[in-house]
Amino acid sequence: MTHLTMSLVEIATPILERHKRDHTRLLQILHDIQDELDYISPETMEYLAHELEIPITQVQSVVEFYSFFHSKPHGKFRILFSDNITDRMLGNKDLFDHMLNRLHLTPDTVSEDGLVSVGMTSCTGMCDQGPALLINNMPITHLTPRRIDEICDLVKSGLPVNHWPSHYFKVDNNIRRADELLATAYNMGDAIKAAVAKGAQSMLDEMKRSNLRGRGGAGFTTGVKWELCRNAPSDERFIVCNADEGEPGTFKDRVLLQSFAGHVFEGMTIAGFTTGAKQGFVYLRAEYKYLVKSLQIFLDNMRAAGFLGKNILGIEGFDFDIDIHLGAGAYVCGEETALIESLEGKAGRPRIRPPFPVTCGYKNKPTVVNNVETLCKVTEIARRGGAWYEGRGTRQSTGTKLLSVSGDCARPGIYEFPFGVRISDVLEECGAKDVIAVQISGAAGVCLAPHEFHHRIAFEDVPTAGSFMIFGKDRDMFDVALNFAEFFAHESCGFCSPCRIGTSLVKDMMEKIAAGRGTKYEINEIQRLRDQMKNFAHCGLGQTAGNAICDCITKFRPAFDKHLSSRDFLPAFDLELSLARSREVTHRDDADAHLGAK
Ligand SMILES: Cc1cc2nc3c(=O)[nH]c(=O)nc-3n(C[C@H](O)[C@H](O)[C@H](O)COP(=O)(O)O)c2cc1C
Ligand code: SF4
Repeated sequence: MTHLTMSLVEIATPILERHKRDHTRLLQILHDIQDELDYISPETMEYLAHELEIPITQVQSVVEFYSFFHSKPHGKFRILFSDNITDRMLGNKDLFDHMLNRLHLTPDTVSEDGLVSVGMTSCTGMCDQGPALLINNMPITHLTPRRIDEICDLVKSGLPVNHWPSHYFKVDNNIRRADELLATAYNMGDAIKAAVAKGAQSMLDEMKRSNLRGRGGAGFTTGVKWELCRNAPSDERFIVCNADEGEPGTFKDRVLLQSFAGHVFEGMTIAGFTTGAKQGFVYLRAEYKYLVKSLQIFLDNMRAAGFLGKNILGIEGFDFDIDIHLGAGAYVCGEETALIESLEGKAGRPRIRPPFPVTCGYKNKPTVVNNVETLCKVTEIARRGGAWYEGRGTRQSTGTKLLSVSGDCARPGIYEFPFGVRISDVLEECGAKDVIAVQISGAAGVCLAPHEFHHRIAFEDVPTAGSFMIFGKDRDMFDVALNFAEFFAHESCGFCSPCRIGTSLVKDMMEKIAAGRGTKYEINEIQRLRDQMKNFAHCGLGQTAGNAICDCITKFRPAFDKHLSSRDFLPAFDLELSLARSREVTHRDDADAHLGAK
């Protein structure tokens, strides 16, 4: 190892001790070190690799993989504007430019005094109160030019973010419609006691009877997942709560963790009781780091009350505890096997499946991965039984579903409806008028036109993980598709070629169309690439990356056609545009300096 600065050793040692020098906690260690040192230098990486007894390439690949880790200085204040389509609709680009002007900055460059940098990031989960930004991972919502001015003044004053007035960081729940989950009063321990009274096998039977299906997207039956984990031969099992919530337009898990954490933790504990797992993890997206403190306090209270830890409720051998693990800005880590890699302190690249996590997950042991909302629903089943639960919703989609409603409507926020609700009913309830499209289930989901608004939210009709983005009559659906193309090109983890190349080609073609140089060739190519990704990409990210864009092409073709050139094909390289700068520098404007126009 090269000569080490004392400050690195002094800062890193207590952090390493706090994390018990456990290399699976590498992301947590890097978060803490970056908070102290601003960035992860090559020297720091070398030191950590040595201390954790892991290859330096593992540390380097983790720092490179996650967009919230930095190997170069990025400023005492790191500002990231949320760039979901709903933020764009609320004017985030103008606010971004306004801030850059006020701070005399260009995007993603650190000010000369090392004070601040400003950039864009994918959806931060605040679409009901956008436009939003993160400053040193703390969210600020409802941005206006005035608020941007105030933030710039505070930044220039150098006051650390944790000393800023707390009202800047207020995040509203915006619960607009509550049903059996959001309207039922919570009493700590009731659900765990009810599950224990039934016994592990009966609780599993109730789960299967309820036909509860996962709320994270795929809709797998939760009881069957638990049974597979319970029956897998092993000395250890794990429960993971997937709180990565990276799907653009979704924010219901944020609300559940902010105000219904007891439901989440009890759901996890019941999963532990039923499957025999003794350790649980909440994998929390870094954008929700502001929630960590309140979640830790809640966990401490549960431990103090005897609902977590050793011999829960005084029952010998009923041990279960929960640890919170922060992600670091990678949408793909919502995919359950990528999440497990990340939990193990590695880059979040999806594993080959099978084997599935239920038999071979965290540390290759049987692992249940469930969404935040799924785990909340478990508490209803524990308290009221599977037969009762099965009575709500539709045959294949029982119970209620939380929708994160944003975009062009009077009342954006959280809506809890029984499964089977029509799209048109949701639109009416949230005060949406003159709607031309609804994007269901985020950028990977489905784009519905008005003639489809009679459809129902349900696994057997329109499935969703929860995102419900509304576009009114003045919106350009080409802009929506362009935002999705940029999102996937940014979030592709780069592991497999169909997705790595496909998503960036689709983005390039969409940008070419936006610049007025696209033709029918590009439209056909985008559709062809969608098919390639669907058939050959390694994980769900690439397999779904082209869906919504192609939906927009099919259903909103005039929005694309108006950008298209009438020529059969135009090269991507624009010679005339490229020569413009040379003409400016050489002060030439004669005919020969306009080769590209010929
Ligand atoms: C690219 C990608 C991102 C995902 N993101 C999430 C997420 O943020 N939260 C989530 O619960 N599931 C997400 N999933 C689905 C998970 O892989 C997994 O199916 C889910 O967590 C299982 O929980 P459930 O059975 O309770 O739905 C994602 C899947 C893919 C392919
Ligand atoms: S499909 Fe995309 S995100 Fe998934 S493994 Fe391949 S490159 Fe990574």
